[in-house]
Amino acid sequence: MREALFTRRIGLKMQLLVITFLFTFSSYAFIVNNLSTDVSVGVMTIAAQGKGGGKSVKKAAAAKVQKSDDSRPYDKIDPEFRNIGPGFGGKNAVPFWIALVVFLLAMGGVVKGKSKPVKGISGVVALIALGVISYVTYWEARALGRQQGYAPVQPIWFSHKVHVTQNKIDCEYCHVDVRSSRHAGIPSLNVCLNCHSVVNKGKRSGTKEISKIYDYLGYNPKTKQFDKPGKPIEWIKVHNLPDHVYFSHAQHVQAGKVDCQECHGPVEKMNRVVEYKELSMKFCLDCHRKRNIITDNQYYALYKFHLKPGEKPKVKDIGGQDCSACHY
Ligand code: HEC
Ligand code: HEC
Ligand code: HEC
Ligand code: HEC
Ligand code: HEC
Repeated sequence: MREALFTRRIGLKMQLLVITFLFTFSSYAFIVNNLSTDVSVGVMTIAAQGKGGGKSVKKAAAAKVQKSDDSRPYDKIDPEFRNIGPGFGGKNAVPFWIALVVFLLAMGGVVKGKSKPVKGISGVVALIALGVISYVTYWEARALGRQQGYAPVQPIWFSHKVHVTQNKIDCEYCHVDVRSSRHAGIPSLNVCLNCHSVVNKGKRSGTKEISKIYDYLGYNPKTKQFDKPGKPIEWIKVHNLPDHVYFSHAQHVQAGKVDCQECHGPVEKMNRVVEYKELSMKFCLDCHRKRNIITDNQYYALYKFHLKPGEKPKVKDIGGQDCSACHY
């Protein structure tokens, strides 16, 4: 009897421990994840300035981002690009919180239930809820270190929708290096000036954002001279593979004839650039396993010679699955 009571005590304590652990861990993950999409930018800037630490930094960062959002009402993530990918702040938030509440209630039933059937049913419900929580946590864990859905606020509100869709500017007008280099490149502000020396007002942001181009360049739109001191603009990088991965745009866009949208999603519809795809190793390999290479460029002249008639080699056949192709 005494022994039974003892194990029951341990059981209760264990249960409490598990609940507390789950709750704190998940809440932590939830917050971290929320921070990673919007606020982390602010956290980084503030942390870089060396002000404060811990919570106050996050609060200050949140306030900062909030402020920059408020003062730029046009700079919202477009509704269709919100909540992309996993992330407690994303599509997993609602099922997660519901499952957590159900789990806690059911655990209450298990511990305090008056009869065996009540305890039994509570136990089953708790297990199911725990399953949902674990499933969400699994997707969260998979997404750690990746940034699908990341959409930082940029120093100038530059909209791809306004430029690409409404004004029909080609991607490569600005991202000039995309066919010849590893990097697509971000245009220098002088490229913007090609048009914005004339266009000094936008329909949505008025002169506020376009005049920033002049400020950064030290350009005086009245005299059309560079007569002021300028400063370099710091665009915030959206897509960022880990350092151990090698990726080249030229290989894909020029040789492989892969569309930008296959990896970046519908950028032409975005007012604020969002990392649309997961950019995981699976993402790269899934395509390399299925995609045929395009052999009509000179590089494959000799290779083609050795193919059987009608044979269509895939990227994996030319080494697209070798670890060393993508990893240093
Ligand atoms: C008028 C110039 C211009 C045109 C045209 C343009 N872009 Fe951009 N693009 C920029 C600038 C400036 C940035 C950096 C600011 C930002 O991220 O919004 C950028 C950022 C990006 C990024 C995010 C880069 C990062 O930090 O990871 C992607 C992806 C991108 N562009 C793809 C495209 C695609 C695809 C097209 C064509 C459909 C296109 N761009 C057309 C100027 C342009
Ligand atoms: C090929 C011409 C061209 C280039 C290059 C160009 N823009 Fe524009 N931009 C336009 C046009 C046209 C508009 C639309 C003005 C309007 O709303 O009527 C515009 C609008 C804007 C607006 C205001 C949008 C609004 O609705 O308020 C901003 C901000 C802007 N551009 C920034 C940039 C930046 C930054 C660059 C360089 C990375 C750039 N533009 C390059 C043609 C260009
Ligand atoms: C096969 C996938 C793929 C295709 C196709 C692709 N990109 Fe990218 N892009 C990436 C990846 C991955 C990164 C991140 C690179 C890194 O962090 O090293 C990136 C980064 C960028 C950046 C940020 C600056 C840079 O070069 O790192 C820009 C801008 C960009 N891409 C524009 C484009 C445009 C424009 C096109 C089409 C002409 C295009 N991309 C086609 C995968 C792709
Ligand atoms: C939508 C399809 C697609 C995706 C997604 C894609 N690739 Fe590729 N990749 C290709 C094609 C097509 C080629 C072959 C180009 C050629 O003919 O040289 C290629 C070739 C390569 C090569 C050269 C392989 C070799 O042995 O010659 C590397 C490295 C590479 N890709 C890395 C990546 C990485 C890293 C990613 C993920 C971030 C990625 N790719 C995503 C289509 C894709
Ligand atoms: C087509 C390109 C490509 C090939 C081939 C490739 N990888 Fe990767 N690998 C990646 C990318 C991209 C990432 C980064 C994924 C991320 O950020 O989540 C990665 C990440 C990793 C990681 C870090 C863990 C992770 O998931 O983030 C390991 C370990 C790894 N690769 C091992 C390998 C091994 C072993 C091979 C050979 C069997 C291989 N890779 C082949 C593209 C590739």
